[in-house]
Amino acid sequence: MKKKALITGATSGIGLETARALKTAGYSLILTGRREERLAKLREELGAETLAFDVSDRAQVEKALTPDVLKDVHVLVNNAGLALGTASVQTVELDDVDAMIDTNIKGLLYVTRLVLPSLIANQGHLVNIGSVAGRWTYPGGATYSATKFAVRAISEALRMDLLGKPVRVTNIEPGMVETEFSEVRYQGDKAKAAQVYKGMTPLKATDIAETIAWCVSRPAHVNVQELVIYPVDQAAVGPYVHRTAP
Ligand SMILES: NC(=O)c1ccc[n+]([C@@H]2O[C@H](COP(=O)([O-])OP(=O)(O)OC[C@H]3O[C@@H](n4cnc5c(N)ncnc54)[C@H](OP(=O)(O)O)[C@@H]3O)[C@@H](O)[C@H]2O)c1
Repeated sequence: MKKKALITGATSGIGLETARALKTAGYSLILTGRREERLAKLREELGAETLAFDVSDRAQVEKALTPDVLKDVHVLVNNAGLALGTASVQTVELDDVDAMIDTNIKGLLYVTRLVLPSLIANQGHLVNIGSVAGRWTYPGGATYSATKFAVRAISEALRMDLLGKPVRVTNIEPGMVETEFSEVRYQGDKAKAAQVYKGMTPLKATDIAETIAWCVSRPAHVNVQELVIYPVDQAAVGPYVHRTAP
């Protein structure tokens, strides 16, 4: 029987490319997201099982992720996440604060809590998608950074909680990756999103997907705990980006 991977936020970007990479690596897939029409395409393209739910809604998560659905899951990629805006703490919309914390921290914990019994039973691997913003912060990034610092904390504590059990926990921390991330951050403003990557070469979602596929294919006794991955044109979080055009 094929090993099964559950990927949250597989309708776009890093999650979508991770689904393709793990399919190539021989996994069968359970893919999740909120956009049902995109999930329908993934059923067709990848022969995936799909589940439409909002990770930040505990009742929806509990309804979707039943023990029966989860029983054969070997790999969980906690990828669903978002940043909203770049407002300072003194001006930020509190709805955006709630959405980032509810999705990136609480949603990740809701899903993890339900999937862990299967990962323990199946000698599984948990991959959390953090960010370089989970190590260093920047003006206008207080809440998003705080959520990704939290993801790193959760990964670290989980390794201790799971010590003695055959489950690996990897925290992936990407720098700038060109996906729909900036469009979501700027509420659909494509021009503003394009400016983020103007004149520089960002990472592609496939770069992160290939890295995840590599981590989960290491021998069972090897745990790649954390990986920080930047594009060459980005030296650090903040203004340290090399651009050929302003
Ligand atoms: N792009 C970057 O520069 C970058 C850098 C470091 C880390 N990251 C992290 O990488 C992860 C993936 O981001 P991406 O760059 O691939 O962005 P993306 O293209 O916008 O993809 C985000 C995915 O998350 C899903 N999602 C968002 N909120 C959700 C919710 N409440 N419930 C269920 N699914 C939800 C979206 O699906 P639906 O809209 O269909 O629900 C989508 O599939 C995120 O955790 C992000 O923080 C991104």
